[in-house]
Amino acid sequence: MTDLYQVTGNPVGHSLSPRIHTEFAQQCQQDLHYRALQLEADEFTPTMQQLLTSGEIKGSNVTVPHKERAWALAQNRSQAAELAGAVNTLFMNEAGEICGDNTDGSGLVADLKQNLGRKLSGARILLLGAGGAVRGVIKPLLDEGVGKLVLANRTVSKAEALKDLFADERISVSRFEDVPEPAYDIVINGTAASLAGDLPPIPDGCVSSHTLAYDMMYSAKQTPFCHWASERGAQAVDGLGMLVEQAADAFFIWRGVRPQTADLLATLRAEISGN
Ligand code: ATR
Repeated sequence: MTDLYQVTGNPVGHSLSPRIHTEFAQQCQQDLHYRALQLEADEFTPTMQQLLTSGEIKGSNVTVPHKERAWALAQNRSQAAELAGAVNTLFMNEAGEICGDNTDGSGLVADLKQNLGRKLSGARILLLGAGGAVRGVIKPLLDEGVGKLVLANRTVSKAEALKDLFADERISVSRFEDVPEPAYDIVINGTAASLAGDLPPIPDGCVSSHTLAYDMMYSAKQTPFCHWASERGAQAVDGLGMLVEQAADAFFIWRGVRPQTADLLATLRAEISGN
């Protein structure tokens, strides 16, 4: 019988995940179907519990705004999920427990290293934001041996709380306006500012021609952050690669095989930018 998987979020209608996982399944010759299921906040926990424990679905990706609910639903959580405080991948184990993992951070790391060719070991990194998206990528970046991680957020106390949570001497905290120069190897925008057409007001000197400016959001139109950074000579990319890579890691958790991502990423990139 064909195994069923899904992505759950709200809204989820425009999610690329069904397309990505369907292509992965074809490439890896896996017999599965992948759908999108929109759930309201009060429906999420009972519906997901029923779908998973009955075996109706074998697994689910979880996206905004349900990642913390998925964390609470999971009886057995990976270290990545625990440190992120959020789950983006659900499945059952042989003991009949609902398991939760988080592949957002590993997806970002894979995109930075493999697709964008950036060295993380020893890198100076500026991370903008202090919400769920940022929390999920801090430990995977630290584990890659980054040299320095500056956390800057509009509400500085939230960045301080993350510094305390991860308790690593490479982390420091700043207001946007006071981010220390010189230019960083990588500046990652994990704020929701782009959604509002906004830009975190960091000093121009934070980026230079050797900087990779990475917006964790992706969109057809260049985000304000990517526009700002590319005008200052940086290499600017959005989070489409992270989306594809987190999906590949989830696919591996479910199916034991990690799909190739480069061709699909190039195809999606061309489609999104209308080429
Ligand atoms: P997510 O799970 O996507 O990270 P979140 O937890 O609501 O969402 O966090 C949103 C992040 O974007 C926060 O860091 C928020 O800053 P505050 O902590 O000060 O609220 C940041 N953010 C949202 N809108 C912003 C804007 N217009 N300018 C700068 N930062 C913004």
